[in-house]
Amino acid sequence: MSDNSSKKVAIVVLAAGKGTRLKMDIPKPLAPLHENTLVDYVIDTFKDFGDITLVTGHQRELVEGHVNERFENINYVYQKEQLGTGHAVQTYLNNFDNSREYDYTIVTCADTPLITKETVNILIEEIEKGSNAVCATFTAENPAGYGRIVRKGDGFQIVEEKDANDDQRQIDEVNSGLYIFKTLYLMDHIFNLSDDNKSGEFYLTDTFSPEANVTPLLFEDPREFLGVNNLIQLSQADIYLRRSIARFLMLEAGVRFTDPSHTYCYSKNIGQGTHLFQNAFIDDKTVIGKNVIIEQGVTIKNSIIEDGAIIKANSYITDSKVSKGASIGPMAQLRPGSNIGEGAKLGNFVEVKKSNIGKKSAVSHLSYVGDAEIGDGVNIGCGFITCNYDGANKNKTIIGDGSFIGSDTQMIAPIEIGKECYVASGSTINKSMPDGSFAIARGRQETKEGMAKRFIKKKTDK
Ligand code: UD1
Ligand code: CA
Repeated sequence: MSDNSSKKVAIVVLAAGKGTRLKMDIPKPLAPLHENTLVDYVIDTFKDFGDITLVTGHQRELVEGHVNERFENINYVYQKEQLGTGHAVQTYLNNFDNSREYDYTIVTCADTPLITKETVNILIEEIEKGSNAVCATFTAENPAGYGRIVRKGDGFQIVEEKDANDDQRQIDEVNSGLYIFKTLYLMDHIFNLSDDNKSGEFYLTDTFSPEANVTPLLFEDPREFLGVNNLIQLSQADIYLRRSIARFLMLEAGVRFTDPSHTYCYSKNIGQGTHLFQNAFIDDKTVIGKNVIIEQGVTIKNSIIEDGAIIKANSYITDSKVSKGASIGPMAQLRPGSNIGEGAKLGNFVEVKKSNIGKKSAVSHLSYVGDAEIGDGVNIGCGFITCNYDGANKNKTIIGDGSFIGSDTQMIAPIEIGKECYVASGSTINKSMPDGSFAIARGRQETKEGMAKRFIKKKTDK
């Protein structure tokens, strides 16, 4: 981009349409893709290239409200009636104050979320060779619904499906809906459009003609130009998105997948030597270090997993951090605010919430740790429970370094256990303990010789 920085680029995102074919109760630009919306991906791709203006119309308050929450410096123009893509660009040129000051104007659609920055760069490089406009095209396996690229001499025109004759319908090179124009050329041609066509719309595509100095640029991989018009294409977009991330992770980052087609990884922040097993779900906000193992069925959202950790099967982690070499699960849950120290070990059916667990501490089986500060080298037996909630407030449990907490122990918070304490199994602890102390809090056992047969008999006699 550095050699383009002298040229001012404007980006127009067409986002006014209703998206009827999608059959969702929201405007199409807000259709969900992973944990974002279609238009989020478009803005993310284009925001580094210039100033973005969205042409909004249908449910514009929702679209603009969403975009304003996520991005800064986005402009909007309102296309009150949706009279076609050409009309949308006319509306932009007439209503966005500085629209005519940019050297180049890129036009793209809110429903094509997978276009890459690389492609945008290629378009800019191409127009700098002197064309008036460049249109990104691809060869479609099934061209139905797309505008056909009709090449004539050096130039071309675009014929919409509805207006095409039988010969033109056979053409499989189609219009992606992504273009770059010299702004002067766009201004000269966009106001001469006619709506004398089968749709009765003003087509942006009619700005191209064989006589004009315009270039169709054929891209090999059609997937990034997928337009989302219905729910089949929405799921296809999700698949393509994950595929391109998996491809990057495997070829560039050195991340191993057991089966990328059954792994739901949306993060590109994963280190070399990490192995993702089947059915793992990793969201786009998660960062994973090197040589981590993520076993089958694990879900991780908005979390950090450091080098050498292992997350065993079916564990569920949100808004948490797992430090180097720690081991989680199988079937453990880290709820928001959990911070697991280096080399710590959480076993099966352990739930942790808003707690720090120190280095090399272990909570190996069937426990609930909530609102707790557990020190380093603490060993917590099976079936431990922090009673952190008294019905009104959440209270804290603190356990010092090197303490040993026996199995089936409850801590009634707020409570503070010192360092190197020892709590006997089966204790309900409701008083704080000083460093080095021992506590036992359970009913005393009585053993009556020979008495068992009374009870056993009762049962078998019935
Ligand atoms: C358009 C192209 C077609 C191309 C295809 C690629 C035209 C005439 N046709 O067809 O050549 O192959 O995209 O996906 O341009 N929109 C507005 N205002 C309007 C009409 C549409 O903002 O008045 C927006 C829509 O919200 C959408 C985008 O423009 O984001 C494209 O409109 P859509 O109706 O989906 O066009 P296609 O029929 O797909
Ligand atoms: Ca479309």
